[in-house]
Amino acid sequence: MLMRIWHFTRNKSSRLWIVAMLLLAGVAWAGDHVRLAQDGMHDPANPGIKLLQEPGDALSKLPPDVVGNRVRWVKALEQGVIAPRTNIMPDTPIRVLDLDVIMPRTGEMPMIRFPHRQHTEWLDCSNCHEHLFKSKAGATTTVNMFQILQGEYCGLCHGAVAFPLTECKRCHSVDRK
Ligand code: HEC
Ligand code: HEC
Ligand code: HEC
Repeated sequence: MLMRIWHFTRNKSSRLWIVAMLLLAGVAWAGDHVRLAQDGMHDPANPGIKLLQEPGDALSKLPPDVVGNRVRWVKALEQGVIAPRTNIMPDTPIRVLDLDVIMPRTGEMPMIRFPHRQHTEWLDCSNCHEHLFKSKAGATTTVNMFQILQGEYCGLCHGAVAFPLTECKRCHSVDRK
């Protein structure tokens, strides 16, 4: 249904309204660190729940964010507050790439700066290449905001484990001028 509305709205500002409506729905679901008994996954009636650490007890000590899971993960890593293990198998090569790619097909929105360093400090190249993105700037021609909002491309992680899609400017950060 949404797909049809999107295709039949030729007008850019109505499309932005659709995006805005989706986002408001997202904001209404977000809260502070959700307690285990309210997360819809743990059984609040099970006495074992008291043995588990509440997410807030661990996460509230990390650099805070106002959205998503309320943690600025990139900052936490950069400040050394956390030092996650880089590999499980000792012989796995770690590849960090310091390269920003500008993705310009954003209509009237500011362009995208995609930072490799911040991603490859968490992820391997094979998480994205070549099935999600081609390793040639501008070569991935099928990515668009609708697909992303549907959980494809950047939306596979952003809104799921990384900061949510409400934060337009963290991706759309490069002014056209
Ligand atoms: C996780 C990163 C990310 C976030 C957050 C994000 N975008 Fe995008 N957006 C993209 C990418 C990537 C493209 C495609 C760029 C390309 O192909 O050159 C895009 C494209 C677009 C386009 C171009 C037309 C289209 O439909 O593709 C619009 C308009 C747009 N985004 C609006 C928004 C708005 C409004 C928000 C916030 C509500 C937002 N975006 C949040 C990554 C993001
Ligand atoms: C989180 C996803 C992600 C990861 C992980 C990732 N990349 Fe990319 N990469 C991208 C995106 C997005 C682009 C831009 C594609 C486009 O513009 O069509 C890109 C583009 C590239 C390019 C083209 C740059 C240019 O200027 O033409 C190269 C080379 C590349 N990646 C190599 C790597 C290597 C090597 C790794 C691992 C060390 C890696 N990437 C990890 C998403 C990723
Ligand atoms: C495979 C998972 C994955 C994909 C795909 C992905 N990201 Fe990310 N991204 C992450 C993670 C994990 C982080 C770090 C956690 C966070 O910032 O919430 C991150 C962080 C970022 C940051 C913040 C960097 C900083 O300095 O704070 C930007 C900007 C970003 N991503 C843009 C994008 C764009 C644009 C795309 C699509 C072209 C994309 N990401 C695709 C996982 C992903």
